[in-house]
Amino acid sequence: MNILVIGGGGREHAIIKKLKENKKVTHIWALPGNGGIAEDAECVNIGAKDIDGIESFAKAHTIDFAVVAPDDPLVLGAVDRLEGIGIKCFGPNAAAAEIEGSKIFSKNLMKKYNIPTAEYETFDDMEKALSYVREKEMPIVIKADGLALGKGVIIAQTLTDAENAIRMMMADGAFGKSGSRIVIEEFLTGPEVSVLSFTDSKVVVPMVSSMDHKRALDGDMGLNTGGMGTIAPNPCYTKEIADICMETIFKPTVDAMNKEGRPFKGCLYFGLMLTPKGPKVIEYNCRFGDPETQVVLPLMETDLLETMMAVRDEKLADLEVKFSDGAACCVVHASKGYPGKYDTGFEITHEDMGDAFIYYAGAKTEDKKVLSAGGRVLGVVAKGDTLKKAIEKAYEASGKVHFENAFYRKDIGQKALELSK
Ligand code: AMP
Ligand code: GLY
Repeated sequence: MNILVIGGGGREHAIIKKLKENKKVTHIWALPGNGGIAEDAECVNIGAKDIDGIESFAKAHTIDFAVVAPDDPLVLGAVDRLEGIGIKCFGPNAAAAEIEGSKIFSKNLMKKYNIPTAEYETFDDMEKALSYVREKEMPIVIKADGLALGKGVIIAQTLTDAENAIRMMMADGAFGKSGSRIVIEEFLTGPEVSVLSFTDSKVVVPMVSSMDHKRALDGDMGLNTGGMGTIAPNPCYTKEIADICMETIFKPTVDAMNKEGRPFKGCLYFGLMLTPKGPKVIEYNCRFGDPETQVVLPLMETDLLETMMAVRDEKLADLEVKFSDGAACCVVHASKGYPGKYDTGFEITHEDMGDAFIYYAGAKTEDKKVLSAGGRVLGVVAKGDTLKKAIEKAYEASGKVHFENAFYRKDIGQKALELSK
C-alpha cells in the first residue's frame, strides 16, 4: 500500500515508523517530512499548509491511504479535499477540526453539553475584556481564539499582566487574526494529563495516558514551548479517573460533535486537568499530540494502519486496540535558545543507542549528513517495564546523541515518579 503522511515533525516520524510495522505498507511519502524522516519515507518539499500542493501531489500519485497529522492542514480542510478526490484519510474534516481551530467553539460546545471545563467569557471587544479582568481575581487565563502554534495561552499572575496580554492579542495582533477574539477563563489547578483517543464518531477508544512537559527548563521554569518531553502512562490517571473521564468527558464530547452535525473521526486529544473538583478539559486538539505521540505509539500493540482505517470506515467497534503494560519516556533535544532565537545547521550524530531510538523533528539532510534545522531538533525515546526504567534508559541514550548548541531538560518524568510514590 502507498501511504501519504502530511506533516514533518517528531510526531509524524513516530507515526511513520509505526505505520511501517504493517507489512502491507510498501511506500510512504511525507509532505514535507524532514531530514531524519527521510530515513523512513520519501520526503517531498510540499508544506503541510499548502493544501493545493497536497491535492495536486495526491492526484498525481496512487495513494491508498492518507494521514493528515498537524492542526493547520486539518483546520484548513486537507481531509475534505483529499476525500473529495477519492483518497481515504485519517483525520477530521474541517468542520470537526474546529474543536481545536476555535477555542470559542470548543468552550461553547462544553458549556452547551455540560462537559466540565474552566468557567469563561469570550470577547471580541478589547475594552469589555479589560473591564472584565479588572473585576476578577488573579491569576487568570487569557487565550487567543484561533491556532497560535501553542503559544496563544497566557496565565496572568497580576492585573497588569492580564491587561498587557489582552492588548497584545487584540490591539497589537501578536497572533494575527487568531487573537482578534479571545477567551478569558478561570485558573484551574491540579496535575495535567494528556489522553489521545481514537474515535470514528461512534465509539471512542482512549490510548495510554501521558504527561507533557511544556516549559523550556528544569523544574517547569522558563517559557512555554511546544513540549520538551513526555512520559506514558501518566501515574495520576488512575482507572477510577479514566472511568469518570469516559462518562463525563470523552463520550459526551463525541456525542456533542455528532449532535452539532460535525462528527469527529480521527485522533481526538483531551488535555485534562485533574482539579480538586474532578477532571476538567483544558483543551481539545483535533490530532495526535506532539511529543505525546512519541511515547504513546511505541506502546501500541495493535496495528496502527488497521486502526486508522477502521476509524475512517467507522468500524472501530470491531477492533480491540491494545497497549502494552510498560512505560515510555521521550526527552526532546532542542537548540539552545529555543523557544526564542537559536542557531541551526549543526551535524547530528549518535553512538549505538541499544533499544532506545530517535524521532527527528527539526532536521534536514545535506551531503548525506543530518543537520539541526529547528528549535526542537529530535526526541530520544526509550521503553521500559516501569516508568523509572524507561526514564533511565531515555537519559542514558540522550548522552549518546550529539550536536552543537543542544540542550535538553534533565527532569522529564521526575514529577510523575514522585506522584506515583
Ligand atoms: P492550552 O494551549 O490550552 O493547552 O494551554 C497551555 C497550557 O496552559 C496548559 O497545558 C495549561 O498548563 C495551561 N492552562 C490553560 N488553561 C488553563 C486554566 N484554565 N487554568 C490553569 N492552567 C491553564
Ligand atoms: N503537546 C501538546 C500538543 O500537541 O498540543
